[in-house]
Amino acid sequence: MHIREAKYSDIQQVADLAQLSIQSACESSYSFDQIKIWLDMFSEDIIEEIFEDENNLILVAVNQDNGGDDEADSDDEILSFGYLNLETAEIKGLYTHPDYTNQGCGATLLEFLETRATDNGILELFLDSSLNAVDFYKNFGYKEISSSEFVMPNGQSIPSVRMSKRL
Ligand SMILES: CC(C)(COP(=O)(O)OP(=O)(O)OC[C@H]1O[C@@H](n2cnc3c(N)ncnc32)[C@H](O)[C@@H]1OP(=O)(O)O)[C@@H](O)C(=O)NCCC(=O)NCCS
Repeated sequence: MHIREAKYSDIQQVADLAQLSIQSACESSYSFDQIKIWLDMFSEDIIEEIFEDENNLILVAVNQDNGGDDEADSDDEILSFGYLNLETAEIKGLYTHPDYTNQGCGATLLEFLETRATDNGILELFLDSSLNAVDFYKNFGYKEISSSEFVMPNGQSIPSVRMSKRL
């Protein structure tokens, strides 16, 4: 596995991965209607906006170890992606392709995001965890602050849990 910054050419794969990840991992914690609301948040257009926001640092875990040669990774298969907003000090999302869960991708990406946060002077990271991922984040030292919600661009929302970790 190799971790690198995401590029515009990754948008389609990232959008597809997010849709699959939400559908497969979250049905135990959310209703069909809630999952639909969440899926709408990761349309290709919205992923494009995420990529265009210069405050977002987006990392992907890929299955090809090309020694970090950014020119040689056009055929990478993206296993997992995560992103951090450097302005708000928030992990905004972390998604692993359903075929690659429980193989360490999420943990590795989270570790890289935390390192990049520290490098940017962030002392405490915040996030809104989906209900199904609260225990995952707890494993990495995040603590629950309060019940919260993911608010979608169209104003609809689904329940989440606000968490934080001092780096
Ligand atoms: C949560 C998620 C990102 C974890 O990714 P992953 O690549 O499977 O995680 P890893 O393989 O690195 O798991 C690391 C550890 O956490 C555990 N873990 C993984 N998912 C977990 C979960 N949902 N709850 C509790 N523990 C979890 C693993 O068993 C592993 O434990 P171990 O080190 O003792 O073996 C992935 O399940 C996912 O994409 N979920 C759907 C999207 C989502 O809800 N994302 C969070 C939104 S903020």
